[in-house]
Amino acid sequence: MKARLAVLAGDGIGPEVIAEALRCLGRVAQLYGHELEVTELAFGGAAIDAEGDPLPDRTLRACLTSDAVLLGAVGGPKWSDPGQRLRPEQGLLRLRQSLGAFANLRPVKVHPALADASTLKPEVIQGVDLVFVRELTGGIYFGDHSRDADRATDVCTYTVAEVERITRVAARLAQTRRRRLTSIDKSNVLETSRLWREVSARVVAAEFPEVALEHMLVDSAAMHLIRRPRDFDVLVTENMFGDILTDEAAMLAGSLGLLPSASLGEGRLGIYEPIHGSAPDIAGRGIANPYGAILSAAMLLRHSLQLPAEAAALERAVAGALADGARTPDIALAHVRALATREVGDAVISRLQRPG
Ligand code: IPM
Ligand code: MN
Repeated sequence: MKARLAVLAGDGIGPEVIAEALRCLGRVAQLYGHELEVTELAFGGAAIDAEGDPLPDRTLRACLTSDAVLLGAVGGPKWSDPGQRLRPEQGLLRLRQSLGAFANLRPVKVHPALADASTLKPEVIQGVDLVFVRELTGGIYFGDHSRDADRATDVCTYTVAEVERITRVAARLAQTRRRRLTSIDKSNVLETSRLWREVSARVVAAEFPEVALEHMLVDSAAMHLIRRPRDFDVLVTENMFGDILTDEAAMLAGSLGLLPSASLGEGRLGIYEPIHGSAPDIAGRGIANPYGAILSAAMLLRHSLQLPAEAAALERAVAGALADGARTPDIALAHVRALATREVGDAVISRLQRPG
């Protein structure tokens, strides 16, 4: 097949990890006989510097007409002054909104070889296999924000339709897995959460009777995630709770650098990005962990290009590389030399196999 990818490498370690993801995609395309047309576009802080806009029109238009968007990371100290008018993060939020990417899938799987890389005990995290479905285009991120001399306000709104559609994405996913769905809210305090709880309960009962739904308060979920993470299958939650809990959940896997994500809308077009940030402290040193970006590329193959065999092949190559100890410094073993970003890319590419 032929596919067009918009690539937004962004800031900090973004370009370094995206380079490896692209090399892996290139090799997959070569082995399976596909043609990928890659267009690299300005985005984030780099685009503020070059064009005065974190999401230039040309970049947005190219994303809207592509088959998928592969994204690195945005942000950095250069653009994080609180008085700053333009912020790289605004580009990311506008991109998610413009593409209608309301469902953010963040799978967390503990690789057997990495049980020692987590700060948590191996017996707690072994076998963890869960997926967060984070609502991505609503809630407090997209409400009115205002400020005067002695007061600041951020408004959180959810509509019935927004909760219905994200619940459906999560319940459909649960149907293909262990059929357990945990909906996370703060319904003992927030009105949006009471709406969330009502609507999600109604949708699951009416349309997904075979899915077991439980509701959990977000503070309690934060605790149970590290106390008994194996019990979770699919978790669905609103935008900001999902942002916070997925950073926490990433530590089950051992490093923020390992986790991929897919942000999907109604059609096939999606945004694929590692969940880590731009990591300015290690940018430019060639030591960033590219696994999250590479696994995001696998999600891109599966969801936007509808190539499940190719996605699985890339995931197998990653699992093989991890099993053989190909680790960047963030997950390195004390007595084994850590690999550079590019060497991890090589380790994955050398394990990619021809179909059949
Ligand atoms: C994420 C990031 C973004 C978010 C930031 C960069 C705006 O933390 O993708 O999790 O909060 O959604
Ligand atoms: Mn985040």
